[in-house]
Amino acid sequence: MHRPIRRSAKLTAITGALTALVVLGATQELAAQTGPSPESNNDVTFTRDIAPILQQNCQVCHQPGAIGPMSLMEYQDVRRYARRITRMVESRDMPPYQYDADVGIQDLKEDWRMSDDDIATISAWVAAGSPEGDPADMPDPIEWPDPAEFRLAERYGQPDVVVASAPYDVPAVGQDRWWRPVVPTGVTSDRCIKAIETKPSVIGRAVAHHANSSLLVDGERAGRLSEYALGKVGEIVPDGACRKIPANADVSWDIHYWPNGIDIEDDQVEIGIWFHDEDYEGAFDQTLTLYYLNGGRGFDIAPHGTLMTQGFHSFDTPVRIDSWQPHGHTRLVAMSIQILRKNGRRETVSMVSNWSALWHHSHIYEDDSAPLLEVGDQLILTGWYDNTEGNRYNPDPDQWVGIGDRTADEMSHAWIAVTHLDEEGFEQIKAERSRPVSEQPDKDDR
Ligand code: HEC
Repeated sequence: MHRPIRRSAKLTAITGALTALVVLGATQELAAQTGPSPESNNDVTFTRDIAPILQQNCQVCHQPGAIGPMSLMEYQDVRRYARRITRMVESRDMPPYQYDADVGIQDLKEDWRMSDDDIATISAWVAAGSPEGDPADMPDPIEWPDPAEFRLAERYGQPDVVVASAPYDVPAVGQDRWWRPVVPTGVTSDRCIKAIETKPSVIGRAVAHHANSSLLVDGERAGRLSEYALGKVGEIVPDGACRKIPANADVSWDIHYWPNGIDIEDDQVEIGIWFHDEDYEGAFDQTLTLYYLNGGRGFDIAPHGTLMTQGFHSFDTPVRIDSWQPHGHTRLVAMSIQILRKNGRRETVSMVSNWSALWHHSHIYEDDSAPLLEVGDQLILTGWYDNTEGNRYNPDPDQWVGIGDRTADEMSHAWIAVTHLDEEGFEQIKAERSRPVSEQPDKDDR
């Protein structure tokens, strides 16, 4: 495999965009006075074509009070950012869901990626000078769900249990903060999770960058509970699997706050959990576990150097891989997950080649696409690190970088939800699938 290379000089790009906007603004006014009417059918207009795309893909974050740096609700706001918007959607940096569209499994749940058609429409609109169009074409504003409610409540009703983080004061200005309180779940018997959602407070939406949670039993780690990054709805465990929450566990929070101009006192993030009935039975255990790429050992990346690390994992029963979430910091640039079949065949399951540590996603495979491994098959996780100035997120290419907890250090693992099957369960899932695993999309020649 080749190391994927992404380069972008962000500062130059932004300055360039500002200059372009000034020039563009002037041309546009002229066009508005003398040019052809933008209402002719072939023209892409803001009101008819662009506003609906922004509603579906952007406004959840780009509205007043949300985490995005600007609002994309009104024509005037959007026009100002038109060039930058094209660049961000063409590079698939926005919406922030980094997952390669040309390799491996593409059927994902909670997939934020835009369609190629929508991206092309935005590009065409900007190329045409960002015309507004007929105000009568403007779609009705979206009725955003009440941000104080759990989003999954529409589907499942109120959660069976809500666990809130201990209150934390977030200052208006300052460095990133990590808040790691431990809070009891209050759940007194072993239960199977049906769905789980992490929800920041309404005002905290603008500063809670991500919030992860693990379980502790008697102070010992007992697996991951959930993870959250802004915009993420929640996790739904496939039917027939049991993500267990053990009796009398504590939740160990790991919340990343991002001071964003507002003082917030006593902020709390909540986890809502919906359970299967007490008598939910016959289910296979699903675990969410950390899998290392480097065997849990250290590594050092030289100043201006690069590094590739690779980890192999096998299982003693057949398994189904339900989700995959890469983890690394600013020098990680790409990660992949592959299966090495026991006959030597290698399949790429998923690849992220424009990793951004600002956004953490659990890529959840659709039920019919979730890869199945037999005993003897192996998972291969590969990570690529770039400590050169060519890595746009690199804060300091002159540093040696090792494994550690600080943002300045690196990490090398993936969170993977695995359903542990037996032979019978494995055969049954295979039989239920409409198409065999071997026919799923797989371009393995990168
Ligand atoms: C999940 C939240 C979220 C969604 C959805 C989202 N954005 Fe963003 N966007 C952000 C945040 C946060 C930033 C600033 C940090 C960053 O660049 O990652 C940002 C930055 C940007 C920037 C760069 C602004 C600048 O000052 O350089 C542009 C342009 C942008 N978004 C456009 C879009 C467009 C267009 C969409 C929809 C197609 C979209 N975003 C969807 C959260 C979001």
